[in-house]
Amino acid sequence: MTRRFASLIAATVAAATLAAGVGVASAADQPADQIKYRQAVMRSVGGHMGAIAAIMKGEISHTGHLSAHANAIAGMAVVAADVFPPSSASGAETRAKPEIWQDWDEFLGKAEAFRTASANLASVIDGGGDSAAVGAAFGDLGKSCGGCHRPFRADAN
Ligand code: HEC
Repeated sequence: MTRRFASLIAATVAAATLAAGVGVASAADQPADQIKYRQAVMRSVGGHMGAIAAIMKGEISHTGHLSAHANAIAGMAVVAADVFPPSSASGAETRAKPEIWQDWDEFLGKAEAFRTASANLASVIDGGGDSAAVGAAFGDLGKSCGGCHRPFRADAN
């Protein structure tokens, strides 16, 4: 092996190792932090839902913001399952039920329904749907929240 080739391999391995470190659970992902992160993601979804509701009710006239809110939710829905690693079952105050990890496939189905409903709302809005169509898609999205919260989120104290 030439010296140049060997150093090329070394550089490639170093780059691959670095790349693999991104997105892999490491010492950085402490359970308490994973729980806080999950709750931050969920609160952001709740915030955007509240903002859409305010616009839909006519309390706020920024109808041009609907797309940004809907697409933000759709983006969070894509990562929703990622914020429930098994290591985050406990370690800080959490309303995530143990059933999430016991019935993981069923839980994934709820996350998938959320993804579909949020993508649909974004596409209805971006496609210029009227308020009835947007309202229906928004209602369906709201049902997908409850569809997961009912079986998998504990009641608030
Ligand atoms: C796939 C399941 C699932 C879906 C879908 C889902 N959630 Fe959640 N959500 C949870 C769980 C579980 C918790 C509890 C997290 C915890 O306490 O660690 C939660 C917590 C929350 C919280 C409280 C966050 C906090 O501060 O503790 C809000 C707000 C929330 N969800 C809003 C929503 C909204 C709005 C939607 C739909 C647009 C939604 N969620 C969809 C599972 C889901």
